[in-house]
Amino acid sequence: MKHKITLIPGDGIGPEVSRSVQQIIAAAGVDVTWEEMPARAEVERTGTDYLHSGMIESIRRNKVALKGPLETGVIGGTRSINVGLRQELDLYSNLRPVRNLPGVKSLSSNVDIVLVRENTEDLYAGIEHTVIPGVVESLKIITERASTRIAEFAFQYARERKRKKIHAIHKANIMKLSDGLFLSSVRKVASKFPEIEYRELIVDNACMQVVMNPHQFDMLLLTNLYGDIMSDLAAGLVGGLGVVPSGNLGDEIALFEAVHGTAPDIAGKGIANPTALLLSAIMMLEHIHEMEAAKRIDAALRKVYSEGKSLTKDVGGSATTAQFTLAVINSLEKRQN
Ligand code: NAI
Repeated sequence: MKHKITLIPGDGIGPEVSRSVQQIIAAAGVDVTWEEMPARAEVERTGTDYLHSGMIESIRRNKVALKGPLETGVIGGTRSINVGLRQELDLYSNLRPVRNLPGVKSLSSNVDIVLVRENTEDLYAGIEHTVIPGVVESLKIITERASTRIAEFAFQYARERKRKKIHAIHKANIMKLSDGLFLSSVRKVASKFPEIEYRELIVDNACMQVVMNPHQFDMLLLTNLYGDIMSDLAAGLVGGLGVVPSGNLGDEIALFEAVHGTAPDIAGKGIANPTALLLSAIMMLEHIHEMEAAKRIDAALRKVYSEGKSLTKDVGGSATTAQFTLAVINSLEKRQN
């Protein structure tokens, strides 16, 4: 099978971890033609908006993209490209499987939780204004349509992957209308999936429960803001953002990305850890039906972590990005034809 995939290497360590992942995918024998987006600084130097410099068109054409981290200013400046991509391509589901990697220092072991986060609305609709100087209003938008489709995505995913239980996370005791609409929409969908146990939990309690007893959870279904916070919280249980993948999916288009940032403190030093982007690429390979290669890369990665000899500094080793990449490639089992 041949694949054409859009690659957005990203800023900071993005190009370094992207190269590593490209090399590993090639070594696993997957035939990918990468449509690589130019570096952001190059594009913005010409006064062109990066998001609309051919990136959206390329992803629409190829339907699949892999993305490294992109820098975002905190106050003012341009809109986040990450948020822009999700909104423009209607990538309404954010999928974050959280599992331990062997040998990575973590708060909990045997964690296996999939978080499904609504990706397009809530406080991220970006509707804010100054009412009078000193008073700002941000609107939390929740719609029945978006709540229903994210619930359908989560329950369908659970059914296909044979997951057993979904907790919807909310604050409907306080935000009775907005979170209330989310919950009532999810309940309707849940009733169509009787084989999947359905529960509800208030977000603050859910945060405590995930930390104290993560093994009671199978899948979490969340609105955008709670999903953003809880997916990082869950990642923290297994060693942080460097060891968890992420996928953003719409009806036709899927974009897989590392959820860590650009790591400006180590960019260009050749010591960045490509694991998060590689795990996201494994999800991408499953999505494009390269199951066998996905399994082999996952097994090779887990072997390298179990052996612990070629790990990068952030996870307690001293290997460079190149040494880690080579160790994964050398651990790949031969392709079964
Ligand atoms: P960060 O994730 O870039 O860095 C936090 C710490 O983790 C740093 O010490 C860094 O060296 C380390 N780190 C992160 N990824 C690593 C990797 N793969 N290997 C080894 N060490 C790693 O977070 P920070 O500093 O808050 O953000 C820096 C920039 O990244 C900002 O401009 C921010 O907007 C952007 N960002 C982009 C994201 C995305 O595109 N998805 C997500 C988060 C932040």
